[in-house]
Amino acid sequence: MHIGSLDFGERPLFLAPMEDVSDPPFRMLCKRFGADMMYTEFISSGGLIHDADDAHQKLDIYEEERPVGIQIFGGDLDQVRAATPLVDAIGPDVIDINFGCPVRKIVRKDGGAGILRNLPKMEQLTRAVVEEATRPVTVKTRLGWNDESIQILEVARMLEACGIKALAVHARTRAQMYKGEARWHWLRKLKAEGVRDIPLIGNGDALDPERIEAMFDETGVDAVMIGRGAIGNPWIFRDAKIYRETGEMPPEPTWEERIRVVAEHLTLKCEWLGERTGVLEMRRMYSGYFKGFRNASTLRHLLMQEDDQEGVLEVLMNFDEHQADTQVAVPATRAAQKAVPAAIQAKLPTPSRAKKPTAA
Ligand SMILES: Cc1cc2nc3c(=O)[nH]c(=O)nc-3n(C[C@H](O)[C@H](O)[C@H](O)COP(=O)(O)O)c2cc1C
Repeated sequence: MHIGSLDFGERPLFLAPMEDVSDPPFRMLCKRFGADMMYTEFISSGGLIHDADDAHQKLDIYEEERPVGIQIFGGDLDQVRAATPLVDAIGPDVIDINFGCPVRKIVRKDGGAGILRNLPKMEQLTRAVVEEATRPVTVKTRLGWNDESIQILEVARMLEACGIKALAVHARTRAQMYKGEARWHWLRKLKAEGVRDIPLIGNGDALDPERIEAMFDETGVDAVMIGRGAIGNPWIFRDAKIYRETGEMPPEPTWEERIRVVAEHLTLKCEWLGERTGVLEMRRMYSGYFKGFRNASTLRHLLMQEDDQEGVLEVLMNFDEHQADTQVAVPATRAAQKAVPAAIQAKLPTPSRAKKPTAA
């Protein structure tokens, strides 16, 4: 599978763009566990051209995480056109346009999935980005605005004619938000009748290794993009590849490994954002990492009380893993395979240090 000159091999696994999740620290972890392509969270084209600090911070990419795409959104043609060279200058491998965000304040201004109600403007926006970019442009979108207006086959052909190099489709309508099942039969149809020469990236409900492989098998998509399944679970990429090779579900990571990854995530966040903000932002991540553990709320409560990195690490390292070992959400077969956790090491392993991001 190729996007422009980028070669991803067979059945690559992409990390979905996710606001407040797919930041450089998390992407570094996903890369280590085998993500083949990753994206920044969506970045406002208006924010970029008006020099908003948070928009510019989201442009940060580490050299080690390549290939990486920067995702932009916006419904104002001039802003999108002006923002594209700014993004291009950062040097991502791909520029992705978000035509899928369902949030009301975004769609109201023709941003995200809002543009699915105005296909001529979608075409203009896409052409503007393709014209201004010096690198491959891709699009991520949904099936349509609602059940009455699913036009994804026409949309795919129109976007391909604009010159995009890959199309990612979240197989829900905007009206579905995140509810109901993703409609994979549309991905199959799109692959057969929609896209012609560009790859199709399937997205929606590929939440675990079995479903990732099922999406490839049932729809024929060229790549699978994983969103919620990776939250608090960056090893899903490794697990999915092991499952593909062996047909067996790998065991859950040991408690020790989980702690090590959370500690490294924290360290990377603090390096990227500074200690204070890093510790605060990391708080959003704990529920994902410890979901399904019976004592998760106790642990989270303890972690939330710590204001500095050392305090958080102290809690992580000293939490009674035997108490925490009792999982409630693991299927019996996986629980049986789970290794008995070793004692938590007293010292943190040295995290692999990322180089400074290429953009400030
Ligand atoms: C917390 C969160 C934030 C998201 N932010 C973005 C975003 O910035 N850009 C985007 O294109 N999609 C975003 N999405 C949608 C995901 O990329 C993906 O399309 C959706 O979660 C369906 O895939 P999944 O079933 O694998 O989770 C977000 C989803 C979640 C859960």
